[in-house]
Amino acid sequence: MRTQVAIVGAGPAGLLLGALLHRAGIDNVVLEQRSAEYVLGRIRAGVLEQVAVDLLRDAGVAARMDALGLPHEGFEMAFGERRLRIDLHALTGKRVVVYGQTEVTRDLMDHRRQSGRVTVYEAEDVQPHDFDGERPHLSYRQGGVGHRVEADFIIGCDGFHGVCRASVPPGALQIFEKVYPFGWLGLLADTPPVSPELIYGHTERGFTLASMRSHERSRYYLQCSLDDKVEQWSDAAFWDELRRRLPADAAERLVTGPSIEKSIAPLRSFVVEPMRFGRLFLAGDAAHIVPPTGAKGLNLAASDVGLLARALADFYVGSTAGIDHYSQRALARIWKAERFSWWFTSLMHRFPDTGGFGLRMQQAEFDYLCGSAAAQTALAENYVGLPMG
Ligand code: FAD
Ligand code: DHB
Repeated sequence: MRTQVAIVGAGPAGLLLGALLHRAGIDNVVLEQRSAEYVLGRIRAGVLEQVAVDLLRDAGVAARMDALGLPHEGFEMAFGERRLRIDLHALTGKRVVVYGQTEVTRDLMDHRRQSGRVTVYEAEDVQPHDFDGERPHLSYRQGGVGHRVEADFIIGCDGFHGVCRASVPPGALQIFEKVYPFGWLGLLADTPPVSPELIYGHTERGFTLASMRSHERSRYYLQCSLDDKVEQWSDAAFWDELRRRLPADAAERLVTGPSIEKSIAPLRSFVVEPMRFGRLFLAGDAAHIVPPTGAKGLNLAASDVGLLARALADFYVGSTAGIDHYSQRALARIWKAERFSWWFTSLMHRFPDTGGFGLRMQQAEFDYLCGSAAAQTALAENYVGLPMG
């Protein structure tokens, strides 16, 4: 098979890139190691920034998001019983849209099917080759048969554990990483959310987040130990712990029910530099991870592929400036999101070494935020995200 752009990974980064390239008339093939059902079964992000919303619109994949997504003009922070509403719209003029990653992925899958571009699910042993040379290509197997995809470019949208970053000679990359000493236990349920806006909570028992997917479907998270196993958490235990961590009025409104999904995610900050090696480019979680507190991961994946789609379109009309500057431009956005996600995570969680001093520092930071319009504006600007530029 021969194509212009070979994409590894059919998560949101790979599928959105495929849709943007399709719109620009650039042929592309997507190889995904899992089945489409498996990809749709992963419950992850829920908050879209304007940049992601705009890119989905540009790609022509926004009809369901526009109909079903919930525009949010603010969110709440709870620190013990103290509350602060961050009025995103008043502070920045912008909103975010609550619309699940699963739905974004489903919309992109449907669009791709209609576009007629090739997607290979359950592609085994995908390997990038010769991306530093003249004939970049991917090899993979399916049903015991070997295949080869030749391309002008290979794009690694294959997530944190993917093969593309791992194929680059280690000396050619620099890795920056911080692993946090806790995880997030998430639960999805068909129950009405406790509040019309998200609540990010700091409590003595650890962080909690009350989010949603619709007016009938809630998504909750609890900071948990890295040793916890999801099987140890019955639904009843989750609801009991959540009730203890929510502010009293929200806890009173809590409606419980059977979980649809429960999972534990570790928290990590990670960046690889650069994001280009010859004709191989990395985008999304393949190149960077943020702890989920700032709701940035999916949005960064979208802005990476937005930059890359534009750069590749420019390449095919004779300009290499976009692909030459991709890594530098993407990393400038990424480090800002890394800083914000690290800061928000540090403020809202109990760390094993938080201690009395650390707790007072977190309280003082929250007090400062409550009393400073400038600090709230900075938080709001970071949360709603930067324009693409
Ligand atoms: P992925 O979604 O990981 O997709 C990569 C794809 O590549 C996968 O389908 C994988 O199967 C495939 N793949 C891997 N290896 C190979 C291989 N060798 N060959 C072929 N295919 C391969 N972000 C936000 O913006 N807002 C939020 O509110 C938010 N909340 C989150 C909550 C949780 C609990 C978690 C875990 C994450 C959250 N995120 C959030 C982060 C967000 O989900 C990720 O950043 C996003 O999924 C990144 O998309 P991606 O396409 O780069 O990677
Ligand atoms: C969700 C996840 C996040 O990490 C976040 O900051 C906000 C919302 C969610 O899954 O709904």
